[in-house]
Amino acid sequence: KTLWLIVPAAGQGRRMGADKPKQYLMLGEHPILVHTLARLYEAFPKASLVLCLDSDDQWFQAEWVPFAAWQRVTGGIERMDSVLNALHAIPAQDDDIVMVHDVARPCITTDDLHALYQAVTHHTGGALLAMPVADTMKRANAEQQSTCTEPREGLWHALTPQGFHYGLLRQALESARHQKRMVTDEASAVEALGRQPQLVSGRRDNLKVTHPDDLALAAAILSAQSD
Ligand code: C5P
Repeated sequence: KTLWLIVPAAGQGRRMGADKPKQYLMLGEHPILVHTLARLYEAFPKASLVLCLDSDDQWFQAEWVPFAAWQRVTGGIERMDSVLNALHAIPAQDDDIVMVHDVARPCITTDDLHALYQAVTHHTGGALLAMPVADTMKRANAEQQSTCTEPREGLWHALTPQGFHYGLLRQALESARHQKRMVTDEASAVEALGRQPQLVSGRRDNLKVTHPDDLALAAAILSAQSD
């Protein structure tokens, strides 16, 4: 059976304020994208990779891809469109497993990747890496004043990867698009079908590089992990 890894990498990364998309910024000796693909390959060397890239991408280099089986697809307007393009481009069976991982999460570990894969094989509603909220959560008004405190009981941060059977994920995302519902992760589209993806407690250092400060943090995490 084929394991499909979809890596959406067609975002602009505007919050980063850099002159190129964030996945091409250097983290130590390599661009972020190279670190992320290396981590995925280490865990699943036989998987098939689908990389979603912007049609105007001027930075990507094919020799960066370690996988023997891979293809690139053109990204869409939203992340969801990029992932749907990938799902439509592959000859997958409905019960094949698909894992979607942000290119901007280079600190993902083999243990977390394997734990998520195991969970996806055991839960028909799929699974995602997540971590319980540790901080007290505030609700803000338009003046950025705290108006109340949200109970954090039962609240989790959604991370990636998120994994599902191909047929379920495709149905979920097609239905979200059809209903013009914006989703910021795959699990929310699946929840809207009435399914309940399993939350798999993941490492707290699975950082999404979003703001300029995150680069130094990600570099420190990678070096601590390799000690
Ligand atoms: O912007 P954000 O960090 O939430 O994006 C999450 C992931 O989705 C990134 O890996 C980004 O490259 C990808 N993305 C995409 N197509 C878009 C928007 C975002 O592949 N249209």
